[in-house]
Amino acid sequence: MQNNINKIIAGFAQSDPKYGLTKNKNFFSVVKNLKKMGINKIDTSPSYTNSQKYISNLDDLSSYEITSKLPILNYKYQSIEKEIKRNIHQILKNNNISRIETLLIHDPLLPLDEKKWKKIYKCLNQFKKKKIINKIGISVYTVKETKDILKIFIPDAIQFPLNIFNQEFIQGDFLQQLKKKKITLIARSIFLQGLLTNQKLPKKLSIIFKKKIYEWKKFLKINNENAENICLKFALSFKKIDYFVIGFDNLKQLQKNSAIIKKFKNFSYDLSHFYSNDEIFIDPRFWRKKLNLKNLNDWERLKRYVPSGSMLLSKKPVQFLPIGWPVFYKKAKGCVIWDKYNTKYIDFSLMGIGTNIIGYSNSIVNNNNKKILETSNVSTLNSEYDLKLSKKLISMHPWASKSLFARTGAEANAIALRLARASTKKDEVAICGYHGWQDWYLSSNLNNKKNLDKILLPGLSTIGIPKKMEGLAHPFKYNDFNSLKKLINKNKNIGTIFMEVERNEKPKKDFLKKVRKFASQKNIVLIFDECTSAFRETFGGLHKKYKVNPDIAVFGKSIANGIPLTAVIGKKEIMDFSRQSFISSTFWTDSLGPASALSTLQQMEKIKSWEKISSIGKKIKKEWKKIGKKYNVSLKVSGLDSMPMFTFASLKNQYYKNFITQEMLKKNILASNTVYCCIQHDKYLNLYLHELDKIFKKIKEFENGKNIMPYLENPISNNGFGRLN
Ligand SMILES: Cc1ncc(COP(=O)(O)O)c(C=O)c1O
Repeated sequence: MQNNINKIIAGFAQSDPKYGLTKNKNFFSVVKNLKKMGINKIDTSPSYTNSQKYISNLDDLSSYEITSKLPILNYKYQSIEKEIKRNIHQILKNNNISRIETLLIHDPLLPLDEKKWKKIYKCLNQFKKKKIINKIGISVYTVKETKDILKIFIPDAIQFPLNIFNQEFIQGDFLQQLKKKKITLIARSIFLQGLLTNQKLPKKLSIIFKKKIYEWKKFLKINNENAENICLKFALSFKKIDYFVIGFDNLKQLQKNSAIIKKFKNFSYDLSHFYSNDEIFIDPRFWRKKLNLKNLNDWERLKRYVPSGSMLLSKKPVQFLPIGWPVFYKKAKGCVIWDKYNTKYIDFSLMGIGTNIIGYSNSIVNNNNKKILETSNVSTLNSEYDLKLSKKLISMHPWASKSLFARTGAEANAIALRLARASTKKDEVAICGYHGWQDWYLSSNLNNKKNLDKILLPGLSTIGIPKKMEGLAHPFKYNDFNSLKKLINKNKNIGTIFMEVERNEKPKKDFLKKVRKFASQKNIVLIFDECTSAFRETFGGLHKKYKVNPDIAVFGKSIANGIPLTAVIGKKEIMDFSRQSFISSTFWTDSLGPASALSTLQQMEKIKSWEKISSIGKKIKKEWKKIGKKYNVSLKVSGLDSMPMFTFASLKNQYYKNFITQEMLKKNILASNTVYCCIQHDKYLNLYLHELDKIFKKIKEFENGKNIMPYLENPISNNGFGRLN
């Protein structure tokens, strides 16, 4: 049986006076007694001030296994080899050692581009061959960073944070996957810089941690446990982990903790509820930055009462810029938003998540709505606006003859699928795109949790979705007609094709036509989900542009310029199944929705808003490409013209995106890498592009090797559904 003491690496990060939350530190007595305690592994770094001073006091230094970290590397590609050599020699000399057990590439390096990583790895391998380094490791903060590196090379060791609040690495089978690659696993941050072991919180941090720490202390009290005991045993319970870096302030503390580790056998508490995937909470790199405490406070308060903070994923500030992004708005007009503190921003981001093509708080829609409210938007009788809107939509889409209205996109899609299933008597559906939050759609991940990764975003959980729904929804790849054909030929019970007409990728020539023809041949109902795409490139569905008619189309988002209203239009023979199936809901009958849609459509038609926003978006796309070229930054520009987006062809994409948002906020512009164009944007376009140009100038420096981390003032934003809280 392995002696647990062999798993301890004495961590010297605390020797840095700036590190951690404790003040009274005494390291000399520790170094004299390490061997006595049976500890022969040390974690140090040139960046831990004083660490070398202490380590040089150790007797028989060569009998210790030393882990060290390369300092921040800001140098150019050409000088990588020289700089690494210099740094390694410095580590050897300063510590008076001839061999480094594990040399970790430290986090501020992350994420470099692929070319540089390869060169660094190659260079470190030369030291490994000469037996100066035994293991090449990486020191990371997040799973994302780790995955980025794994795309380029497989390190011998990974050092990562693990504590009761930060359980990211132990989610799923990630550790197992790393072990399969024969990677040595080293956990650090067991006490979260002393935060978990009863240190007094600095005032700034108490906003962030107050509630969690309160829960943690309550847990300890109820169970009559002590913090060190639980933290250490929790970490040790993960048998896949080879080593644990244990920090300390003084000898007594380390002795006490070593005794806990020595005696450890098993651990019986379930601490999964303490897991917080809030970056600010778990990533100490950002604790010392200048944080926007007002936003942080607003968000924390909101989350206390609204689990996960917002009913819409895309409105969570963590999707844009955790902490930096304003939480509450006070008013919005045109494409301008005033936040709770009266700060005014031009919205060059998602414009109400795609709801407001003709601008926020449109006066004509508002005036009509005021009249409706005065005469009541509901009654026991029906509203004639349902008839008027239905006639209008049918006149715009002559292939359809009936309509139904709902209030959200997901609801309207559920109606569409119910009708399709009723008409074909077949349960299964082929899907392509995003179709909402409901069970029928998410069930596609039941047999393979990566199914929706291909067409939506990775990591969508199926928790709460009945297992019995498995096999009903089959994703297929956009623009890959053969895969759709194969899927349908294999699954005879597929009666519906549910798809977006176009999202980020343009349809290949004839793709949509082939789908249409195939669906007709097979008696399959073709549904175009145009919740987002409608009214952006044509007056009506995007399918009008491609001259391909579905059997049902669903419209949402922008149709009533932000007032809740979604529509299902379709062929009579299918729509009439709503008379047999029970499809009914109270608020589907309010009159504000259809009345707002009618006044929105009237204005859209008058000003040809789809042409205007497409032309604004085209210009944005052109200018993005121009700026990218000017600064030699490689960009991929995509999306509908009226909803342009870009990504950086770099591992640092997410970091650059955050940097843009951060710098734009300083200029009172809400921006990330996607613009949902609205008719008022042209007034502010030059200002937006001027600011963006300045930001790209800085990004060029990061591309050329300058470390971006010191310039990021907020934790890194979330990418997609990886984090729902
Ligand atoms: C294509 C598509 N379908 C469905 C939905 C879901 O609409 P809602 O969020 O109104 O339920 C969306 C929302 O983004 C969408 O883009």
